[in-house]
Amino acid sequence: MRIIAGVARGVRLAAVPDGVRPTSDRVREALFNSLGQFFDGGEVLDLYAGTGALGIEALSRGCERATFVETSGRAVAAIRENLRRANFEERGEVVRGDVAGEVLGKLEGGGRRFDLIFADPPYKISGLKLRDVVRRLPALLTPSGRVVVESGDALLEDFGGNSRRYGGTVVTIFEKPKPTTMKVAVCPGSFDPVTSGHLDVIGRAAALFDHVVVAVGKNVRKSARLSAAERASLIEKVTAPLGNVSVEVMEGLLVNFAREQGARVVVKGLRAGSDFESEFQQAQLNRTLYPEFETVFIMAASEHSFLSSSAIREIASLGGSVRGLVPEEIREIIQRVYLDVDDGRAAKGDKG
Ligand code: PNS
Repeated sequence: MRIIAGVARGVRLAAVPDGVRPTSDRVREALFNSLGQFFDGGEVLDLYAGTGALGIEALSRGCERATFVETSGRAVAAIRENLRRANFEERGEVVRGDVAGEVLGKLEGGGRRFDLIFADPPYKISGLKLRDVVRRLPALLTPSGRVVVESGDALLEDFGGNSRRYGGTVVTIFEKPKPTTMKVAVCPGSFDPVTSGHLDVIGRAAALFDHVVVAVGKNVRKSARLSAAERASLIEKVTAPLGNVSVEVMEGLLVNFAREQGARVVVKGLRAGSDFESEFQQAQLNRTLYPEFETVFIMAASEHSFLSSSAIREIASLGGSVRGLVPEEIREIIQRVYLDVDDGRAAKGDKG
């Protein structure tokens, strides 16, 4: 094996110690082609470095400094020998230790940042451990840094990178995820019908997030008087002045809907301790389905703490006035639609 390009081009590398799987010349060449061939300075981290061929190739092509991490004593000796052969002893640091066990923690704790991180773990490493290591790497990148992972069959496309297969090797290159400035929250409910309390929570959520998607869902434990599309159109009417609120009918699971909408946050209103138990359960279940999902609770204004859709349905069905309890623009429609429709569910304590 030789250095392919750059100032140390042609330098022959030391023999590969037993148990080390070197990156083939073909894969190294393709990989550096994808990275842009040459570099203008920058720091490299070569994890599971083997003979150090990747990090040394990067030094040869213009990177300033490289840190090599290896557990095997014989591989560490080979890296030192290769740095000497390429005349890069001053530019390389060799750390002997376990990547996942201690080294990453120390690098993170020391505030180290790299422009290029190579990770070429043994293919026998479990998929779970590989993903655990890869997940920690963006924290060690400079803002424009890149990670290159060599893996056997494991595909890592969900890290936002490009994967290419070269024979039995998959190479994935990905960048540090750019922080997204747009924070979208979903505000779900059955809204049968939407109340002044709902509108208060939606408005307060709209002040906290860039965009709020009101999700008109089907609560499988209740049947609604109006179709989801009709309930959605009432909410559209009353949220129009807010400007950053949209209303959608939600089919299926909340977590799937949130993913489709690019939302990681669900906002729920809490009126009293009695709401908490079922909300807590839903929040926990949703997080098991979508671990990055967060539930944010907004406490109802005291003047709405007694308000529920079921109470509105009952009052309207018995001909009482719901003035002040629902947004005024839709009060007449609600009085008309729910009049005489005592569906037996009224005031049974459903959250609605
Ligand atoms: O206003 P509601 O009746 O309390 O709203 C309940 C709703 C629609 C938000 C809830 O039933 C829901 O999220 N349904 C979507 C289906 C789902 O994801 N179920 C699992 C939640 S634990």
